[in-house]
Amino acid sequence: MKNICIILVFVMLVAAPLSLWSAEEGAAVFKSSCSRCHGENGEGKTMGTMKMPAVKGTKTSADKLVEYLMKGETDKKIHNKPVSGLSEEQAKVVADYVINMK
Ligand code: HEC
Repeated sequence: MKNICIILVFVMLVAAPLSLWSAEEGAAVFKSSCSRCHGENGEGKTMGTMKMPAVKGTKTSADKLVEYLMKGETDKKIHNKPVSGLSEEQAKVVADYVINMK
């Protein structure tokens, strides 16, 4: 029992900074790769005649978002190809960031 407690404490100590790190990393990726279209806080915006949808409050799951960002969907205007310069790792942290946006 004592061992389990020690392991639990250890896991919590290691995991807390890790999740903090990925939230910060997600924010950084969002700021550099997405915010110019989707707005600082994911609220969306209009650029010229083009409407950029809000991403805040999306119903899409993190996994689907990663796929969307890495592959794109042919019927889209912007996301018809992968987001350039985005690694899969970055896609994961930014997807996580987007679904948790408030
Ligand atoms: C050049 C502008 C632009 C950039 C950069 C961009 N997007 Fe988009 N995004 C759009 C547009 C426009 C749409 C609407 C679909 C389409 O036509 O591609 C969209 C749609 C989306 C959607 C679907 C909205 C929904 O919930 O149905 C998500 C999610 C999304 N973008 C996330 C991102 C993320 C995350 C990034 C950064 C890695 C990003 N986008 C970068 C313009 C952009």
